[in-house]
Amino acid sequence: MGRGSRIEGFYRLQRQERLAHLESRSGLEGAELAELLDGSPLSFDVADHMIENAVGVLGLPLGIGLNFVINSRERLVPMAIEEPSVIAAASFAARLIRDAGGFFAEADASLMIAQIQLVNVPDVAAATQRVQGAMPQLLAAANAVHPNMIRRGGGARRIEVRPLPETPCGPMLVVHLIVDVGDAMGANAVNSMAEALSPTVAELAGGQARLRILSNLADQRLARARTRIPFRFLKTDGFAGEEVAQRMMEAWAFAHADPYRAATHNKGIMNGIDAVAMATGQDWRGIEAGAHAYAARDGQYRALSQWVVENDALVGSLELPLAVGTVGGNLECNPRVRLSLRLLGIESARDLAAIMAAVGLAQNFAAMRALVTDGIQRGHMALHARGLAIAAGAPEGLVDQIVDQMIASGEIKLSKAREILESVRAAA
Ligand code: MEV
Repeated sequence: MGRGSRIEGFYRLQRQERLAHLESRSGLEGAELAELLDGSPLSFDVADHMIENAVGVLGLPLGIGLNFVINSRERLVPMAIEEPSVIAAASFAARLIRDAGGFFAEADASLMIAQIQLVNVPDVAAATQRVQGAMPQLLAAANAVHPNMIRRGGGARRIEVRPLPETPCGPMLVVHLIVDVGDAMGANAVNSMAEALSPTVAELAGGQARLRILSNLADQRLARARTRIPFRFLKTDGFAGEEVAQRMMEAWAFAHADPYRAATHNKGIMNGIDAVAMATGQDWRGIEAGAHAYAARDGQYRALSQWVVENDALVGSLELPLAVGTVGGNLECNPRVRLSLRLLGIESARDLAAIMAAVGLAQNFAAMRALVTDGIQRGHMALHARGLAIAAGAPEGLVDQIVDQMIASGEIKLSKAREILESVRAAA
C-alpha cells in the first residue's frame, strides 16, 4: 500500500481493513489506531475535569476525508460530523481536484487580537498618542506574563488603538494587543495579557478599562486555499465542463450578492471546516464566529469563497480567519484528538489552518457542483436513507436492502423505513 490519501472503495471495506489502510499510510501503529474503535475516548474522570456538571460523554462519527492533495502532499483528513453527506462530498471533491493538480493552501502567522475597552476617555487623540508612545513598555509587560511564549518564538508584537466615536454609550477607545501565539489557539494567553496590561493602558488613556478579552474576528490570522480546475475535469453526464464552470461562477455571484444565499453557501464551507475542527479538538464556536464576521467585513454578509472562470478553467479560492491550535490543555486531554492530529501529519497550527481552508473549499466545490447540475437531493437522500434505516432499527446486515427499497419507493421517510423493515423481517 502507498502513503497516499486515495483509497479506492474505502467505504466498502470492513472497519479493520480501513484501519489497516490508515496504518500503512499514516505511520501510526495498529494498536494505536485500534483506539479509534474503543468505547468512549474520554474517561468520565477526564470529562469531569474538562467541564462543570459533567454527566457523560457524547459520541459523534469520526471519518476520513480521502483523496486530499494539498501543496503536493497527500493528507488523510479526520472529520467528525453527524451530517451523512459531508465526508463523502469532501472526498469526492478532493478526488476530482487532485486530478486537476490539488489544492494550494497557506496560513498567516498565528496573530491573535486581545481587546481592551476604555470608557470615559477625555481626550481620545491625546490618549491614542500616549498609548502608542508606550508601545515598547506595554509589549514588554505583556511578554512578562508569558515568558514561555517568547522562548517558543511567539510573543506580543504590536499595539493598535481604535477610537469608536459613536456607540450607544458614547465614545470609547479600544486598544488591540496583537500577539503571536505560535501553535496554540491562544485564547487564555492573550486574555491574561490583556488583563495584565489594562491598568497601565487605562492610566495612559486617562479613562477606565472595562472588557479585556480576545476578538474572535482573528483577521490577522487568515488561512487561504486555492484550486484551478480545467473545464475537462468538470464535465458530467448531462453537462459540458465549461457549462458547469459557468454555472458555478453564477452560483458564487449569487452568494456574493445575496446574504440569504451567502449564509447557506458559507454553511457548506463550514461543514468541512467544523468537521476537521471537531476531530482535532478546536474551538469551533470561535472559528464560526470569526468566519461569519469576516464574511461581513465590507458591511454586507457575503460568500467566503470565490469561484471565477479564467481562460479554460474554474478557479476557486477561500480566505477566512482560522484560530486553531495544535498544543494546549484541551487537545492533550482527548486521546482521539491527538490521534487525529497525528493521522493528518500536522506540523504546526498554521499547517492545520491551511488544511482546514482546503477542506472548506473542497466542501464548497462539492455542494456547488451538485447544486448547479443534478441538485443536492439525489446524493443527500441516498445517505439520508441510510440514517433512517438505522434509526428504524435495521441491523447492519439489512441496512443496504432497506435503503435500496426505500429509494426505489421514492419515499425517504422513517415510517417507510419501519414499514420495509417489518416486511423484510416477516418474509425472513
Ligand atoms: C448542506 O449542509 C450544505 C449546502 O446547503 C451548502 C450550499 O447550499 O452551498 C448544500
